Amino acid sequence: MAIVAPSILSADFSKLGEAIAFLDKAAVDFIHIDVMDGKYVPNLTFGPPVIKAIRPFTSIPFDVHLMIDKPEDSVDDYIAAGADRITFHIDATIHAHRLIHKIKEAGVKAGVSLNPSQNPESIRYLLDDVDLVLLMSVNPGFGGQSFIPSTIEKAKQLRTMTDRKDLEIMVDGGINETTGAQMVKAGCDSLVAGSYIFKQDDPMVAIEALRRL
Ligand code: DX5
Ligand code: ZN
Repeated sequence: MAIVAPSILSADFSKLGEAIAFLDKAAVDFIHIDVMDGKYVPNLTFGPPVIKAIRPFTSIPFDVHLMIDKPEDSVDDYIAAGADRITFHIDATIHAHRLIHKIKEAGVKAGVSLNPSQNPESIRYLLDDVDLVLLMSVNPGFGGQSFIPSTIEKAKQLRTMTDRKDLEIMVDGGINETTGAQMVKAGCDSLVAGSYIFKQDDPMVAIEALRRL
């Protein structure tokens, strides 16, 4: 059974409350929230006030994916808004180790993310510290892009780099039943999916298909 984290980036933003209510009813493992600052990535989404506004509508953990420069400057706001997990990009900050520990000291799980261009070796020194590694299987910034197949080898490589069975490997971008199956086989625990879920006539069917992987 794969861990499933639907990304609300592909939901209808004018009906965000309905999307949260649906995911709550579907009892998904995490709700993946894509925060973009228009600098680290060429797109702008939501920040702490929106996360705070939707927080009371579900008790499902919020998996907050920060695609922002200098996450250390605003991480406290995301913690206060109700993030249960915070993942930042390795090249968005200079002192990644310090930031991981700051997040964990606040009682929040900490993750680090790699873009398709980045080598797992760049985070080897963090593998004993992080709760999860988020492998981007598209260039971050937009939903609905195609899966980059080299992510499969990257997941396998990462698994060989640590003995930690509790280190979660999550994949994000272009995930559907086929690519999700490839990533689970390669050693991934959890799947982020946006368009594959929200563009279905019945999103529940897609959630169940991913869960079964
Ligand atoms: C992309 C985001 C993803 C996005 C995935 O930058 O980090 O979480 O929502 O969307 P799909 O599943 O449509 O590729
Ligand atoms: Zn994401």
